[in-house]
Amino acid sequence: MTTAIGVFDSGFGGLTVLRELLQVIPSAEYTYLGDTARLPYGSKSRETIVRYALSSARFLQERGAELLVVACNTATALALDDLREALTIPVIGVVEPGTRAAARASAGGKVLVLATQATVDSHAYARSCEAAGLRAIEKACPLLVPLVEEGWVPDGSPSETGLVTCEVLRIYLREALNESPDTSAVLLGCTHYPLLRAAMEQTLAELGHEVPVIDSAQATAEVVAEQLGTRSIGERTTGRCSFFATDSVVKFGRLGTRFLGRPVQSVQLIDLGG
Ligand code: DGL
Repeated sequence: MTTAIGVFDSGFGGLTVLRELLQVIPSAEYTYLGDTARLPYGSKSRETIVRYALSSARFLQERGAELLVVACNTATALALDDLREALTIPVIGVVEPGTRAAARASAGGKVLVLATQATVDSHAYARSCEAAGLRAIEKACPLLVPLVEEGWVPDGSPSETGLVTCEVLRIYLREALNESPDTSAVLLGCTHYPLLRAAMEQTLAELGHEVPVIDSAQATAEVVAEQLGTRSIGERTTGRCSFFATDSVVKFGRLGTRFLGRPVQSVQLIDLGG
């Protein structure tokens, strides 16, 4: 039987989670909502994030989602409990799966969590890491989301734009590692950061800290598969997806393709209010 899975994020970043879900559970039917009109969530207050997350989630439940994936670290960190209370379907966020993956990669170690300001201020990762027997240091990297949104993603070529992003990344990592030189893993606590993974690994090596970089997207897809009792890697990677955005569908298609790694087509515009 096909499961209808709703996936939402403040924008495009959650498509990195959808990309993993498509690999792990290709047979499901996906509805993805990018709340692009109200992005970024990461610089907003808890009250606003909860309000936005609730309206996005309710939209997906009303469209028939049987399970909701909150593919946004900020919404998970600040609104997961409210979402679970308000919805009648199971809700899976990205913080706990990411922490579980970090615990596998760095048992008992010290994890550097890179995230938005709101996620860092919530200390959701610190709590989750502590419960998993890890120590966490949380670092807000507010410039990375706009750089990725702008397409300034290093791709190995010596482009000026890629170099700017690498430099910003280097500053954030250097600051965090100076404060915490015994870091044993880096956890990507924001949906946009998997696009910077290669640059991050290279920068960490240059800074003399070759530690594992953990992506909560992959770990989240695995938790969803566990919850559904299904896992079918390699059978089919063309799961059916419908896309909704609250702002320009043209921009969503263009940027989304980069995040999803395959064409994002037929995006529908919806209005969730302010
Ligand atoms: N999706 C958000 C996250 O994972 C990043 C973008 C935003 O700030 O809205 O935290």
